[in-house]
Amino acid sequence: MCGIVAAAANTNIVPVLVEGLKKLEYRGYDSAGIAVIGSSQIERVRSVGRVAELETASASTQSPTGIAHTRWATHGVPCERNAHPHISGSIAVVHNGIIENYEALRAELSAQGYVFTSDTDTESIAHLVESLLRNEPDLFTAVRLACRRLIGAYAIAVIDQRQPGKIVVAREGSPLLLGVSETGNYAASDASALLQVTRNMVYLENGDLAELTVGGVRITRLDGTPVERPVHVSQLSAAAVELGNYSHYMQKEIFEQPEALANTLEMIGGSKSIQPGMFGAEAGEMLADIDQILILACGTSAHSGQTARYWLESIAGVPCNVEIASEYRYRTSVANPRQLVVAISQSGETADTLAALRHAKSLGQTRTLALCNVPESAIVRESALRFITRAGPEIGVASTKAFTTQLAALFLLTLAVAKAKQRLNAEQEATFIEQLRHLPVAVNKVLDLENDIRDWAQRFADKHHALFLGRGRHYPIALEGALKLKEISYIHAEAYPAGELKHGPLALVDAKMPVISVAPNDELLEKLKSNLQEVRARGGELYVFADGDSEITESDGIHVLRLPEHYGQLSPILHVIPLQLLSYHVALVKGTDVDKPRNLAKSVTVE
Ligand code: F6R
Repeated sequence: MCGIVAAAANTNIVPVLVEGLKKLEYRGYDSAGIAVIGSSQIERVRSVGRVAELETASASTQSPTGIAHTRWATHGVPCERNAHPHISGSIAVVHNGIIENYEALRAELSAQGYVFTSDTDTESIAHLVESLLRNEPDLFTAVRLACRRLIGAYAIAVIDQRQPGKIVVAREGSPLLLGVSETGNYAASDASALLQVTRNMVYLENGDLAELTVGGVRITRLDGTPVERPVHVSQLSAAAVELGNYSHYMQKEIFEQPEALANTLEMIGGSKSIQPGMFGAEAGEMLADIDQILILACGTSAHSGQTARYWLESIAGVPCNVEIASEYRYRTSVANPRQLVVAISQSGETADTLAALRHAKSLGQTRTLALCNVPESAIVRESALRFITRAGPEIGVASTKAFTTQLAALFLLTLAVAKAKQRLNAEQEATFIEQLRHLPVAVNKVLDLENDIRDWAQRFADKHHALFLGRGRHYPIALEGALKLKEISYIHAEAYPAGELKHGPLALVDAKMPVISVAPNDELLEKLKSNLQEVRARGGELYVFADGDSEITESDGIHVLRLPEHYGQLSPILHVIPLQLLSYHVALVKGTDVDKPRNLAKSVTVE
């Protein structure tokens, strides 16, 4: 979604704003803009496209106070007119989120004589604040009153040319934090944008409003009640958000997976047993009492949930359903107060997942667990139990290390539930823990396949369609492979459980249709091999990811790459890695923008 940076300092802040936007560009990247307090009026620079273009366009702009924005279009096409900041009179506003009552506000403000120059919902905030400033000269109060009229989700930052040196920010539903320092105070959508100036972060709560000046910060609630929010010293390393020697964040994040998994699994340390306390103090009691699990998530996170369903039912013996959050939230479902509701989200801010979690709670299902990569996120704060994956910041829009760390966390959850249900003896528990501990090394060996996969990628560049096949716990891995390929290479890809092929999709198979198969050496391999023969018999070209010890052999039209070892229940975590690498290298051959694929954004904070 969109990204916001704001700065009030004692020197020119334009380079800070631009640098901050570069760090947030992964959130949205169809246009960008900045507005600063000028010598006689607000100076605004906007450009369509990337922050690099804004940087050139704003090279001569200077000011100690300003706001900036990188946009992912929701209302109105990407164009300069719709780019933020939006101006009304002496004020400028940037906004992330969606104002649901913007049409009513637009009608009301148009009737007062305000002329709208964009198609955005944000412009109504600018005119609303301007109209309130006519009776209420203090910017902070005017923004506070404006926020009380807004329905929807927002993080906003506002400046007023007549009140230089001051920025007012507010948050309801969309992320926003403050960075505080001796030489200036800042706000941004996430901490990575502010590490360049400070590590001292203040996380705003929903319904908070803050005024920033170079000398300090004050925070109130929307009703004006002052509040204190603690200062956290960010542990995020600046290197974690730098590209280093890699060409793209996606490549970096694929190769960070051994470390991300090791960090996520750190809490099992040298232990031979699982402690439910890793999910929260009340987890032991809660997990023993549940009779069902409902997983809510979107996109890649939903695929990790779908994989975990196989583990939770076969190892822990607990019925499990996985629902796409945007469907669940509007479906009339049968509530079960004894079921554990698990919300999975890399960002912890995905609007559909958050709304689905709230919906589940509103039905009396209070046993909730957040599985997230961002500790301060809304989904974590609103869940009874939590597990924070330690993937580190994920910048590439296509999720990779967040996915494998979610899988590792979900396997820990499976073991904790199995133990609580007395379905796991000490020996099985110790064996699974040993396998988890070995996972980073096993992943490292799979990454060695990169050169072979690079060769395969050449053959996909002229394809328009691809089919992915998997069976059992590897069917969600096939789904994830297809999602990765379509997201970043724009090749239409679909995934099927291999046994389903003959029920329709086989009609699509011919020599032009590459069929990628996830073929681990598990109990379904023989069945899968028959399905692959069905493809070959129709002239389909097969690309098979097998395990070292399996009996699938290369022949005309059957290409095979072997993962070093078969990894039992945890095999999905290894088998997704070549699929990530394949889509990355196909995208490179096709020359697409790997980290910022068209039309997409990281962390979808709108419905
Ligand atoms: C795909 C991808 C998306 C996200 C989805 C949910 O590569 O990144 O499908 O997985 O938007 O996002 P989170 O996990 O942040 O809730």
